[in-house]
Parts: sequence; structure tokens; C-alpha cells
Amino acid sequence: MRVLVTGGTGTVGSEVVKALLARGAEVRVLTRDPAKARLPEGVTAVEGNLLDIPTLRRVFTDVDGVFLLNAVSPTESQEALLAISAMRGSAVRHLVYLSVHQVDGAPWLPHFGAKVGIEAAVKASGIAYTILRPDNFFQNDVWYKDVLLQYGIYPQPLGDVGTSRVDVRDIGEAAAIAFTQSGHAGQTYDLVGPEVATGASTAAAWSEALGRPIAYGGNDLDQWEQQALTMLPDWMAFDFRHMYAHFQEKGLRASPDAVARLTTLLGHPPRAFGAFAAECAAAWKA
Ligand SMILES: NC(=O)c1ccc[n+]([C@@H]2O[C@H](COP(=O)([O-])OP(=O)(O)OC[C@H]3O[C@@H](n4cnc5c(N)ncnc54)[C@H](OP(=O)(O)O)[C@@H]3O)[C@@H](O)[C@H]2O)c1
Repeated sequence: MRVLVTGGTGTVGSEVVKALLARGAEVRVLTRDPAKARLPEGVTAVEGNLLDIPTLRRVFTDVDGVFLLNAVSPTESQEALLAISAMRGSAVRHLVYLSVHQVDGAPWLPHFGAKVGIEAAVKASGIAYTILRPDNFFQNDVWYKDVLLQYGIYPQPLGDVGTSRVDVRDIGEAAAIAFTQSGHAGQTYDLVGPEVATGASTAAAWSEALGRPIAYGGNDLDQWEQQALTMLPDWMAFDFRHMYAHFQEKGLRASPDAVARLTTLLGHPPRAFGAFAAECAAAWKA
């Protein structure tokens, strides 16, 4: 099977690429800049941009599968809908789309609402599809390495209700399984971790892994947004601020049935946060 991975140079897509290679697929990665893309041996970089019509006319003509991931951006819907339009009537037989956990619970959030519409387009496309709905990624915490190590603070304002955070390696495996095994067309899977994490419990897990006290930065979103605006564009800080308000109010918690279903799909329980934090702590120490 030949699969084109969009977002294949990023956090999730790079794990999808590895998992597809491990299952014997031929892999192509769409990237805006092949010179910068660091891809595993045997993977072909395909230069292109999902907002560029000649790209869309060209890249779906000779692949069997597409992993569709759209970065959080003001043009997220446009990129996805153009791609789905281009895939219809092409060679593509299976589309695996990366959405977000409980996307219908907060459709006012720009990067959730975009995915509500995109999921509808995926389902109506006539192409066999699998939708993956991941929770907050463990790997987001790599952004906080310096704050953890220098200030002893865990700053992601996850709140006190709890989210079922997930390791992106499980997302990569699930995507590769959906492409390479039968029975996953028409399915939607929640990509979630085995535990429900709050801000405080995540700080405690980092204390354990790093062997030093780590305090939770707290739920103050005005303060978080001011800090975020030093690093993120205002539209993104605004979107994420409202996402964290939603997490603080409602959480993003998986049911035991969803965890059991994912365990069956992967053939093992989803990875646990403590193991991820311990791996990071060892790598950062080295
Ligand atoms: N972070 C979380 O906790 C979380 C949780 C659930 C869902 N999600 C969803 O996950 C997605 C982000 O995944 P990620 O963190 O893996 O992304 P990422 O690391 O930020 O990577 C973005 C990827 O998108 C590609 N890209 C960006 N604009 C493009 C364009 N116009 N045309 C073609 N390719 C383009 C980039 O490729 P090049 O730069 O090589 O061109 C890159 O590979 C978002 O949809 C987000 O809502 C995130």
C-alpha cells in the first residue's frame, strides 16, 4: 500500500510515518519544504502546499491511502476541504483523518469547529474513511521543558476535571493499523490515554519523574494568555485560551469503554503518562 502522509514532518505525522514503515507500507510525505524535512530512509518527500491547487491536482493521483492532518491555522478548514475535494475521484481508496477528542462538545472553538465540518466532509466524500479523535498529547509537555527544569512549574492549564491525554506514538500506530488491516473503514476511534490527568496530577507525575518538586501553574487563564502571547499569534492564544476554559469546565475524559476499544485496536493498552515523563527525564538528564 502506498500512503501519502500530510503533516508527516510534524509531531503526529512523523509517528504515523514510522508506524506505516514498520508495517511495510510505501510512504510519501507532503511538505512545503523538502530541504528542511528530516525523513526516515525510504520515505519520499513530496513538495506541496494544501492551499495550492496545482499541488492538490498532482499529489493524490497515484496513492492508495492518505493520512490527512491539518495544522491549527486560520485556513484549517480550507486546506482540508480542498484536499477532500481533490481526493474524490482520485486513486485514493482510504482516508484516515486526524480530528480531536469530543470535537462536538465545543464546536465554537475555531480548531474544534473546523474539524466538525471536516469530519462531515470526510463522511460524505464517498471515500472509505477512518477518523481518529485524539485527546491532548503527552508530547505537548516537551514545549514546557525549560519551565519545568528552570522554574519547577507545570504551566499547561488543564484544570481540575481531567483529560485523558494520549501519547502520539499510539496515534501513529492506530493510523497505520487502520490503513494496513481490514475492518476499520467507517470507524471513528477515540485516541486516549489510560488515565484521567488534571493539572495537579500532571505536575505530580513530573515531580516523580524528575525527582524534584514541580508545582501546578494554576487555572488563571488571563495570566496564561498574557504569557502565551509572548510566543503565539493572537488568534492561536485566543483559541487555546477558550479551549482550556472548556477543559477546566467540562474536561476531556474518556470512558472505560473507549480505553478498552483502543486497547483492542492497538493490541496493547495505551501508553501511560508516567512512562513518557520518565523517558523525557532520562533524555533531558543525558
Ligand atoms: N496538540 C494537541 O494536544 C492536539 C490534540 C488533539 C488534536 N490535535 C490536532 O493535531 C493537529 C496538529 O498536529 P501536530 O501537532 O502533529 O502538527 P505540527 O507538529 O504542528 O505539524 C504541522 C504539520 O502540518 C504541515 N503543514 C502545515 N501547513 C501546511 C500546508 N499549508 N500544506 C501542507 N502541509 C502543511 C507541516 O508540514 P511542513 O512544515 O513540512 O510543510 C507539518 O508537518 C491539529 O489539527 C490539532 O488540532 C492536537
